[in-house]
Amino acid sequence: MSSSDLERNIAVWTKANADHTDAASARAWASDEIHWGMFRVSEAEVGVLGDVSGLDVVELGCGTAYVSAWLAKRGARVVGVDPTPAQLDTARRLMRETGIEFPLVEAPGESVPLPDASFDLALSEHGAAAWADPYRWIPEAARLLRPGGRLVFLHTSPLAWVCFPDAGEITTELQRPYFGLYRSEWAGDEGVDFQLTHGDWIAVLRKAGFEIERLVELQAPADAQRHPYYSDVPPEWARQWPNEEIWVARKRA
Ligand SMILES: C[S@@+](CC[C@H](N)C(=O)[O-])C[C@H]1O[C@@H](n2cnc3c(N)ncnc32)[C@H](O)[C@@H]1O
Repeated sequence: MSSSDLERNIAVWTKANADHTDAASARAWASDEIHWGMFRVSEAEVGVLGDVSGLDVVELGCGTAYVSAWLAKRGARVVGVDPTPAQLDTARRLMRETGIEFPLVEAPGESVPLPDASFDLALSEHGAAAWADPYRWIPEAARLLRPGGRLVFLHTSPLAWVCFPDAGEITTELQRPYFGLYRSEWAGDEGVDFQLTHGDWIAVLRKAGFEIERLVELQAPADAQRHPYYSDVPPEWARQWPNEEIWVARKRA
């Protein structure tokens, strides 16, 4: 990712923060349940995290840091990392309101000013996993993890990616090539985001020193409602195809 890509994405997330994140973030921080993705699939159902109590956790692209807050409530020692000051300001305000406190670091996922081998779990929920260059943030996650540490990230599936038109609702037809997925600029969207083919995700993870343990393709629950903000994926689509997926990889010992 070039520095201008990063500047563009910080501008996008500064605007998104002003437009919509406050009430949604406060609700997310208040949740006692961990759930994944826009259709809120329960962690109790997918079971990718296990017991996080006592673990050192870094969230890369934490945004307003509700995922970090969920893990802090469960006894993890969490550090949230995000390059957008406005998002971190919201996280700080919610810390003051809830009394759940943990360190925040202003940095992109590609270059994190924290020591080597200092975490047991690196996490990303549509943070670095969507907005950082995978050829740089995956090796950075490996650097931050201790041997045997885990990387867990949620992002849009490559299948959904190729079914999105340039603008508007997801379709049931292929809209763009699968081969060559990497850096994307969408019409009407100022930001730059990233996606790879499944084969390329496996290659970048293995090259960085990870073994892949699971790929959880999320299915929307039968009673899923359309997301109030990310409204371009109807629940009926995500009942039939995975709109989002969770990778679980372990750094080789
Ligand atoms: C959808 S939010 C995800 C975070 C969190 N789960 C949330 O919803 O608040 C995307 C976040 O990615 C961050 N981001 C943008 N560029 C990034 C980069 N290069 N590395 C890490 N995070 C980045 C943005 O600042 C934003 O806070």
